[in-house]
Amino acid sequence: MTPPATLTLILIMTLAYSVARYHVFGDVPWAQMPLYVMNKAVSWTGLTLLALAYLRRDKPAARDLGVLGLFLTGAHIAMSIALLSPAYYAKLYGGARLTATGEGAILAGVAAAAVLALPALGTLPGVREALGNARWLRWQRAGYWALALTAAHCALLGGKGWFAPETWPAGLPPITLLSFLTAVSPLAWKLRRRTAA
Ligand code: HEM
Repeated sequence: MTPPATLTLILIMTLAYSVARYHVFGDVPWAQMPLYVMNKAVSWTGLTLLALAYLRRDKPAARDLGVLGLFLTGAHIAMSIALLSPAYYAKLYGGARLTATGEGAILAGVAAAAVLALPALGTLPGVREALGNARWLRWQRAGYWALALTAAHCALLGGKGWFAPETWPAGLPPITLLSFLTAVSPLAWKLRRRTAA
């Protein structure tokens, strides 16, 4: 499957899950679908593409998946900044300000985005030659740290609800939990390969 087809398929699946969880079985008004609920599908799809980029052995396909993942992650950041307020994310706020956990969650997201800049820059023409292979590889591997920071971002955002399945609409697990598992899968795969070698 081509990288754009992979993106389309994953976006349809994550959007269907988000609509089911928040509108069909949850009580989020449909008016919040274009940005608030779409943001969940966009961020989860972006992260899945980044994770797939680190799981794929076919290097050109991995590069294209990674670049598409970066675009969606950029869209997620823009959408989240537009929405960030107690009215949308009450659980992250104590009154008008973010709680310590809320601030930590956003910091982890910002740090993940900053670290992602390294593999992103590495895809630009001429950068590999300028850096040399060893340094370029280190920049690519920084993506694993970005995935770990994204896992922390998701755990801080939603961790509280992970252990209360009775609150999940129609028993559907939170997207933060599914995203956490998505983010750690390339890390687990890499650790497994290392210990097997
Ligand atoms: C400036 C940086 C970032 C900000 C301000 C930010 C903000 C947010 C917010 C507010 C949420 C909660 C969304 C919700 O519950 O509806 C969220 C969720 C999420 N974010 Fe970020 N984020 C940032 C960076 C990132 C990065 C770099 C990634 C991935 C590489 C990422 C992946 C995710 C995922 C997968 C979710 C869970 C989806 C969900 O339940 O909504 N975020 N982010």
